[in-house]
Amino acid sequence: MMPDIRHKFIVGNWKMYTTAAEARRLARAVVQGMGIEDRVSVTVCPPFPYLAAVGEILKGSRIALGAQNLYPEREGAFTGEVSTTMLLDLGCRYVILGHSERRHKLGESDTFINKKVQAALTAGLDVILCVGETLGQRNANLTNAVLDRQLIQGLAGVSSDTLMHLSIAYEPVWAIGTHGRHASPEQAEEAHTAIRRRFGQMFGEKSAQTLVIHYGGSVKPGNAAAVLCRQGVDGALIGSASLNADQFLAIVRAGIVDPQTEGNSA
Ligand code: PGA
Repeated sequence: MMPDIRHKFIVGNWKMYTTAAEARRLARAVVQGMGIEDRVSVTVCPPFPYLAAVGEILKGSRIALGAQNLYPEREGAFTGEVSTTMLLDLGCRYVILGHSERRHKLGESDTFINKKVQAALTAGLDVILCVGETLGQRNANLTNAVLDRQLIQGLAGVSSDTLMHLSIAYEPVWAIGTHGRHASPEQAEEAHTAIRRRFGQMFGEKSAQTLVIHYGGSVKPGNAAAVLCRQGVDGALIGSASLNADQFLAIVRAGIVDPQTEGNSA
């Protein structure tokens, strides 16, 4: 992912929702709604069982396919798990790793997430690494310490040659799935700045400048534009609003920056 400063990335995380029929319907509606729009990059991440069906529908469109997780081995006796090889085989370009629901509900550690990040990047997938603090951590003034830890441990050993395949999603845990409680645009911008600063210390200023950082947490059509226009917010990771094609497409439209308008206002 090499961002044009003005080009935004919108990612739909369908989580553990949809039936096969609903997944196909949703994918078709998003493909139709997007048409040949290329001023914004769009990815959808359906549940594993529907990756193949959705992948077929996305073929020939401008929408990329992503997965919500993986296991950090190419193959083996890992019952119930899904490998990088399988995801690539199904046409996935992206994978979401370190999502707070996996960290907090399934107990994934930074070390385990790091193994996944390394496996995905080595295999040639584009990683969206999620980081974010809980409400307790924010109230205890620990936001930056938590983000630092998740970045340092999550990205340990990552080679700088692969950084163009990495993006970060800042998702404050207290703002996810709340249908209303989202970080203010100022809070998002502040956290994105802290993430970019830390990333610069780890990988150099140049890599930090080109790093794509998404905001995630109750992004809806009504608040998308306000957060996407903030300095350093390069994209959005959308949960529940991505399950409704009209809402998702409205957020996608909020991410379109017309180069002509931009040029005039610059
Ligand atoms: P939400 O989910 O948009 O429903 O808050 C975001 C996410 O978990 O990625």
